[in-house]
Amino acid sequence: MPETSLPIWEIHSQIIDSLRSGNRLILSAPTGSGKTTQLARLQDALSARGLDVIATREPGGSPIGERIRAILLDSRTSGLSYSAELALMFADRAQHLDELIEPALRSGKIVLCDRYTDSTEAYQGFGRELGSGVVLNLHRDLCHDLWPDLTLLLESDVKASIRRARNRNENVDSSEGRFEAENEAFFRRVERGFHEIAKRETGRVVRISPGSIQSVQQAIAKIVDRRFPQIASVKASTVALTPRAKPQPDRRVRRGSRAGSRRQKIPRAGQPARS
Ligand code: TMP
Repeated sequence: MPETSLPIWEIHSQIIDSLRSGNRLILSAPTGSGKTTQLARLQDALSARGLDVIATREPGGSPIGERIRAILLDSRTSGLSYSAELALMFADRAQHLDELIEPALRSGKIVLCDRYTDSTEAYQGFGRELGSGVVLNLHRDLCHDLWPDLTLLLESDVKASIRRARNRNENVDSSEGRFEAENEAFFRRVERGFHEIAKRETGRVVRISPGSIQSVQQAIAKIVDRRFPQIASVKASTVALTPRAKPQPDRRVRRGSRAGSRRQKIPRAGQPARS
C-alpha cells in the first residue's frame, strides 16, 4: 500500500444540515489512521462556508466519555468481558448523544462524528461475534434510534491498517492499544462486518476507495455536496458574494476562516490525536 493511501478501517461522522429543511446528515466510514485528517479537513471545508460544524468522536467526545474511552482502549485493561465492552460502548454513546450530539443538532449545528454504532456492530457484533441483533436493539433502546443521514466507509487494506495503527501507538507512546493487539482474524471479521453493513444500508453508507489524502478528501466533498444540496448551495452563494464584499471585511469570510473553525471544534479532553 503506498505511503499516501489511507489505512482507514472506520470513520464515522455525523452531520446535520439544518439550514433549510432541518434534514440530518451523518457521515461515517471504517477505521485506521487518516480518518482524523479527513474529518478535520471536512470540518474546515464546511466551516469555510460559514457553516456551524463540530467534530467529535466515539468512544469519547464528552468528559465522561473520555473516561470510558480510557478504560476501553487502554492496553492495561485486561479481562474485560465482551458483553461489558459492548455495554461500555453504549454507555459512552448514550452520554455523548445526551450531552453533545443531540443538543448540537437541535441548535442547528452540523455534527461530524468519528465512529458511531456501525463501529459497534462491526467490532463487537462481528469482531467479538456477539451478533448484530444485540447491537441494533441497544441502539434502538439507548440511542433513540438516531442514525446518520450519510455514512462514509473508507476502505483500506486490513494488514497495512493494523501495522500503521500499531506504529502510531508506539510513536505517540499511547496506551490506547487494546484493540490493535487483536489478531488478524479479528480484524478480518470487523472488515466483513463493515461490508455487510454497507450492503444492508445502501441508502446511508457510501464506500470510498483508498487513495491519496487529496483524492479521498475530494471524493468526500463530492459526496457531501451531492447528498446535501443545501450545503452545496451555500458554497455557490459564498463564492458569488465574496467579490461584492471586498471593499469591507466580510463577516462570512471571517466566520469560515481556519481560526473560526478551530473555535468551533470540540476539545478532546487532551487526548493525543488518533485516526
Ligand atoms: P480510534 O481512535 O482509532 O477510532 O479507536 C477507537 C477504537 O475503539 C477502535 O479500535 C475501534 C474501537 N471501537 C469499538 O470496538 N466499538 C465501538 O463501538 C467504537 C465506537 C470503537
